[in-house]
Amino acid sequence: MTFSAQRLPQSKDDSLPQILAVAVAHLHGVIRELRPTQADWRKVIEFLTDVGHASDERRQEWVLLSDLLGASALVEEINSRRPKTATPNTVRGPFFRADVPQLALGSNISLDGIGERLEISGRVQDLDGDPVANAEIITWQANAQGFYENQQPDLQPEFNLRGFFRTDADGRFHYQTIRPCGYGVPDDGPVGKLLRQAGYPLRRPAHLHFMIKAPGFETITTHIYDGSDPHLAEDAIFGVKPELVRTFERQDERQSKGAPAWRLELTFVMVRANREPRHEPRFHL
Ligand SMILES: [Fe+2]
Repeated sequence: MTFSAQRLPQSKDDSLPQILAVAVAHLHGVIRELRPTQADWRKVIEFLTDVGHASDERRQEWVLLSDLLGASALVEEINSRRPKTATPNTVRGPFFRADVPQLALGSNISLDGIGERLEISGRVQDLDGDPVANAEIITWQANAQGFYENQQPDLQPEFNLRGFFRTDADGRFHYQTIRPCGYGVPDDGPVGKLLRQAGYPLRRPAHLHFMIKAPGFETITTHIYDGSDPHLAEDAIFGVKPELVRTFERQDERQSKGAPAWRLELTFVMVRANREPRHEPRFHL
């Protein structure tokens, strides 16, 4: 059996017949290769039904499926190709909040003070190394137990470990936080259960999230990974890139007054937005 665009009824959208023809050709290829029984296929349909039922306004099981299969990372990579020296994008993930209030440079975003202190400083620059002044930096991270503030509204203060800063005239920024811990992706729904059964790693190595915006530049949405995390090679969402891995340096003991403390220096390199924007949907489904 073959399936081609010619078999589809005429559509107002030129791309739709082509999308379906490609998708169906690959689907048929999977079925020919795996040769499922009717019972196997019913299980597949039951799984997809469960994914839909597990999704609501607070939980998006389809996004989790897309992330854990690497589809989200691949779409990001196709649409955010940048010169090698620019900071690459990764997926944003489910814990971002856009409503975090702006803070003064140097502020401490650890509102409960629990964890090993971490001082972060850095610079936002363009491809020529010139500073990007007044860039918006939104950061968010898990706490020392691997939980985000919006996962534990009763245990963590609102906006804990979230910050919104602006770079100074030299493109520099700095703030205080705590060292984040890695975490497991949600495995209490159909996607986690399936992938755990298949032996997929469901760990996320320790990381910090950043979104950096400046007029005239492409927005950076990225992670910075802790280079000492033993799970770096098995990030569940395929986000680790060598240029995003950093070593957290131990701070001088005199400065840290004996308590464990760390520092991290970061450079984010932005690309001018002179390319055609690629955020509009191409497929009208
Ligand atoms: Fe995260």
